[in-house]
Amino acid sequence: MFDSGFGGLTVARAVMDLLPNEDLVYLGDTGRYPYGPRDLKEVRGFAEQITEHLVEVYDVKVVVVACNTAAAAALDVLVEQSPVPVLGVIEPGARALTQTTTSGRVGVIGTVGTIGSGAYQDAVGAASGDRDITLTCSACPGFVEFVERGETDSEQVHVLAERLLAPVCDADVDALLLGCTHYPFLARTISDVMGRNVVLVSSADETAFALKTLLEEHGLKSESKAAGKHSWVSTGDAAEFARLGRRLLGPELDIVDALEWP
Ligand code: DGL
Repeated sequence: MFDSGFGGLTVARAVMDLLPNEDLVYLGDTGRYPYGPRDLKEVRGFAEQITEHLVEVYDVKVVVVACNTAAAAALDVLVEQSPVPVLGVIEPGARALTQTTTSGRVGVIGTVGTIGSGAYQDAVGAASGDRDITLTCSACPGFVEFVERGETDSEQVHVLAERLLAPVCDADVDALLLGCTHYPFLARTISDVMGRNVVLVSSADETAFALKTLLEEHGLKSESKAAGKHSWVSTGDAAEFARLGRRLLGPELDIVDALEWP
């Protein structure tokens, strides 16, 4: 599993809880975060490099792209090129969003890269079926940086949220998808701004369920009764990844290996 940094830990948590006997390797590309403002072609290159690394060095049986920006930029290419199944977060999230809404007015927030790619517009359209769903999307530049600094409920992030969430508030949505895996760490702030009547949907749980189904369908589910082993890798400051990562994910995040790209 990989993300640009700490965001994918929300997906890791859900996967570890649902599939406790599976081994997990998490790679946080903190040396090159944030992905959101970058050109999608560049992000695609990073995603290809990381996927290859996970397959070659760790011999993983499945790759989960626990980053919306990377999934928006590269999922199709990764699925086509990779020797193992690859799962993204966008389709499971879009499915959960359309199942959650009762009014049919939904919102998606994400990075500039994700929202600009149109991936959610397509995925929500596909998941809507015959239903009449009105989607409002809003990019939230700056949210990821707050999470990466461990600042999840400060006054500053609240002020920024009020400004960035205005389009989805004005659209009177009843369900809002957190279309960036970092955003569940800001859920309290986002919920304060949106109001209690808006359901926040995180793709983390849906992705974990989709992973379980994928493993079963491919005959890849672990038969072991022992607890899975967890490995953590950061391309940035490994000590900082261990400190903040443990706070965000929990005690399972212990030793972090540093990786330097050649
Ligand atoms: N967690 C990533 C996502 O879901 C954040 C991207 C970034 O690094 O800006 O899009």
